[in-house]
Amino acid sequence: MPSLTWSDELVLAHPQMDATHEEFVALLGAAETALAESREAGLAAYEVLVEHTVAHFGQEDRWMTATGFAPENCHSFQHAQVLGLMHEVARLAREQADFGPLGRVLPELGAWFRMHAQSMDAALASHLDQIGYDPATGHIARAPAAQGMTGCGGSSCSPSPQPGEPAEA
Ligand SMILES: [Fe+2]
Ligand SMILES: [Fe+2]
Repeated sequence: MPSLTWSDELVLAHPQMDATHEEFVALLGAAETALAESREAGLAAYEVLVEHTVAHFGQEDRWMTATGFAPENCHSFQHAQVLGLMHEVARLAREQADFGPLGRVLPELGAWFRMHAQSMDAALASHLDQIGYDPATGHIARAPAAQGMTGCGGSSCSPSPQPGEPAEA
């Protein structure tokens, strides 16, 4: 049973982001299914998810840089933290045959992604919509209100918990 399934609550009305997110959810579910069959299959499927996530986060980071966010904004920072963790989990399984972290991180990624999509990614989608950003051409119809934004596209920055961290009550 996958820890996360695609549903309307994850849709952000940003077609390109939604398509990437739907792929993320499918690849996460595939990794969970594969890991239930064998460690090798699980690791192989997980590495496909990691590769996809590099592109997924990179795409959002580029959109932020192109539309007025500072490079060290909190959304990109969270991407880097999560990707670092994902790489480390793959390394432990591949190099040390330590599959414990891999088994734990998959459901944690499901819970983390739901929160991330509904907070930081939702704020980014809304920001891109407000300024009329065309991801295909990079054209901005309405100039962003500020440059060098460090928040997440909303008025304040409230990072969501990382995978493995308890959610705040
Ligand atoms: Fe995303
Ligand atoms: Fe994101």
